[in-house]
Amino acid sequence: MSHFSYQDGVLHADQVALDRIAEQFGTPTYVYSKSALLENFNSYAGACKGRDALVCYAMKANSNLAILDLLAREGAGFDIVSGGELLRVIAAGGDPSKVIFSGVGKTVDEMRLALDKGILCFNVESIPELHRLNEVAGQMGKKAPVSLRVNPNVDAKTHPYIATGLKANKFGVAFDDALDTYRTAASLPHLDVVGIDCHIGSQLLDDAPLLEALDKLIELIDTLHGEGIVLHHLDIGGGIGISYGEAGEAQPVPVGDYVARLYERIDAWRTERHGGKPIKLIFEPGRSIVGDTGVLLTTIEFLKPGQEKNFCVVDAAMNDLMRPALYQAWMDVKPVRPRSGEAHSYDVVGPVCESGDWLARDRALAVEPGDLLAVMQAGAYGFTMSSNYNTRGRAAEVIVDGDQVHLVRRRENPADLFALESTIR
Ligand code: LLP
Repeated sequence: MSHFSYQDGVLHADQVALDRIAEQFGTPTYVYSKSALLENFNSYAGACKGRDALVCYAMKANSNLAILDLLAREGAGFDIVSGGELLRVIAAGGDPSKVIFSGVGKTVDEMRLALDKGILCFNVESIPELHRLNEVAGQMGKKAPVSLRVNPNVDAKTHPYIATGLKANKFGVAFDDALDTYRTAASLPHLDVVGIDCHIGSQLLDDAPLLEALDKLIELIDTLHGEGIVLHHLDIGGGIGISYGEAGEAQPVPVGDYVARLYERIDAWRTERHGGKPIKLIFEPGRSIVGDTGVLLTTIEFLKPGQEKNFCVVDAAMNDLMRPALYQAWMDVKPVRPRSGEAHSYDVVGPVCESGDWLARDRALAVEPGDLLAVMQAGAYGFTMSSNYNTRGRAAEVIVDGDQVHLVRRRENPADLFALESTIR
């Protein structure tokens, strides 16, 4: 169910009119729906009910403390990629023992912090990382729980910047080297080999590549088992993609169907080849948990007719929402109060001094200066990828809970932006 709909001619987030939010908090503002968030989380958690499974929300998609707190209270674990993200989980009341730590470049300090807090597992991506982790754990008198991120060399058929499971990507240990890497891990005294993981890419609409990756991981688990390396969990990586509302786009497979298909294969393998032994399944979804729970609310500053194109200049920009500029991503743009007048074609652009600063291109809009627009499906990789380029304070963030609105991050003001700087005079 969409939590953003027109009611009496005004776009609402659940029961709250977006123009009311703009009036109260200004624009640009990210608006999230609490009920959408919980619904999305439960599409994974519900599909795994009664199973030994953990949904580790990939918090890089949206790491606002209020979002983390809501998910933690639903029982979520977290997939982190930095020490900073771990500190956020803890600040939000999340449980470090449900945290997995991904990423190719973990520093010594980050490893120390994660070991000190007692995370569930390090998703290790290379042999040098294994040695570093072994050394750090040894110095601390601990054993580090380790999973290897194996690169199954599966084509996820997504945007090249967000495909990660091919040989040419920087991520993971090549499938052909995985066995040797596991042997190395098992030989290191301060590591405890507990799992296997992969992540082949983001915004995957079809689950076929994910199921292919699962088959390859299972094959490896069997081989490892034969060598006495017993794994307790299998982490299938990020979640299913989402619909961005573009005409003719392929639709994502429903999460429940995807999870059911994973379990079909896992159950068959466990009974036929794994002696019925249990294995915990871990998911690291990000986009499908938060993507459609949020919109970016922005005000039209000017309409600027051009010789080849008309521009609709808004107060949000690429620094607020990078996806169009970085990936040429198509994001839906809706007027908050649609007008009946004639529509014209516009590029929706921000005030940043870059030609790449656009949010949407060639959109038919009937709009006037001062109107509000909502950039839809902006809850994932929106705020978290925002920057202060052009000394623009980052947007406010609010969460709608039924008919209530909560400010969960105030708008940054210019003084915030240079508060950490000093001159050398
Ligand atoms: N696990 C790992 C190791 C990841 O690298 C990612 C995303 C995820 C899980 C979550 O994947 P998801 O469920 O969100 O597909 N900024 C890009 C997406 C980058 C994805 C990076 N890794 C975008 O805006 O499309």
